[in-house]
Amino acid sequence: MAHWLVTGGCGFIGSHLCDALTARGDTVTILDDMSTGKRENAPAEAEVVEGDVADAALVRRLMEKADGCFHLAAVASVQRCTEEWVTSHRTNLTGTITVFDAARQAGGRPVIYASSAAVYGDNPDVPLDEDARTRPLSAYGADKLGCELHGRVAHGVHGVPNTGFRFFNVFGPRQDPKSPYSGVIAIFTDRIRAGQGITIFGNGEQVRDFVYVGDVVRHLLAAMDAGGGEGAVFNVCTGRKTSVLDLANTIAELSDAEADITFAEPRAGDIRTSLGDPAKANAAFNVPAETDFRSGLRLTLESH
Ligand code: NAD
Ligand code: UD1
Repeated sequence: MAHWLVTGGCGFIGSHLCDALTARGDTVTILDDMSTGKRENAPAEAEVVEGDVADAALVRRLMEKADGCFHLAAVASVQRCTEEWVTSHRTNLTGTITVFDAARQAGGRPVIYASSAAVYGDNPDVPLDEDARTRPLSAYGADKLGCELHGRVAHGVHGVPNTGFRFFNVFGPRQDPKSPYSGVIAIFTDRIRAGQGITIFGNGEQVRDFVYVGDVVRHLLAAMDAGGGEGAVFNVCTGRKTSVLDLANTIAELSDAEADITFAEPRAGDIRTSLGDPAKANAAFNVPAETDFRSGLRLTLESH
């Protein structure tokens, strides 16, 4: 029976992954510092170790017992990384190198890790394929690009099988709506349904490629099941774009509610156009994102 270490397994995406792993009978150990994660997100069968992904001795100990690692722990908010530059760097880049190093010391355990569409910055050459120029606008994106560079080193120099996934904007049940650092869909669904106003940063014409969390999990599993990979990176996206203003209106329509919108200054480091090309991932893993946007929104709304 396979045993996986899942960093960030009490968070949004990680907890859905842990559900899928335990449902197929695998053993799961989660490492999470509970900064945004919650114990109740994770399946009861999972062992939860509370600690820091940049704690090398701890990660090494947990890696030795596992067959491989899904590395999802990060400060996932672009805005929070802007405000907490050095501490988020420690988690987002040092934490990732710590995971690769532990995998190396354990004899080359495979690592599947979360990168981000934020590595592209505001590249207008959409839809973006993996060869598109990377020029992050934010500390968050810069650290995710650093993870990818170290992923190449982990494989090329140290023989650690690994794959990085550039998730575009992931949404679905269990995404925490309550923090100002939360994802836009979680915030808007929560507030519009409660009859509360929402804030759009900028004019609302910025676009995102929203991908449902279940589709993200299928990519993570496929990459690990294929042996871990050779340090390559892949988009996880749909190839379809939605503006933030359309998003607000669609959530209002599906909730039978009004969107009470206030417009505010754009966020520093915010990307205008983020739209990915899923062709490379589809060819490699054959698990295309199949949940259309409105169905995903309905599943998200039903879970609230
Ligand atoms: P999340 O905040 O729900 O999950 C992150 C988890 O990591 C949380 O449980 C948190 O407590 C934990 N964590 C944070 N710092 C830690 C540390 N120092 N040590 C141990 N655990 C720590 O966010 P998410 O949306 O589930 O994101 C998961 C991963 O996917 C992250 O790497 C994020 O950058 C990446 N990602 C997310 C999206 C998205 O749209 N949600 C898109 C692209 C990439
Ligand atoms: C998100 C993810 C990040 C990921 C990236 C990949 C979160 C918190 N962040 O960043 O981990 O790497 O996608 O593309 O999930 N907005 C509003 N009002 C709000 C909240 C947000 O107008 O109340 C706007 C933002 O300014 C932005 C858009 O909505 O233009 C999306 O914001 P957000 O959900 O925070 O995600 P990203 O910054 O795209």
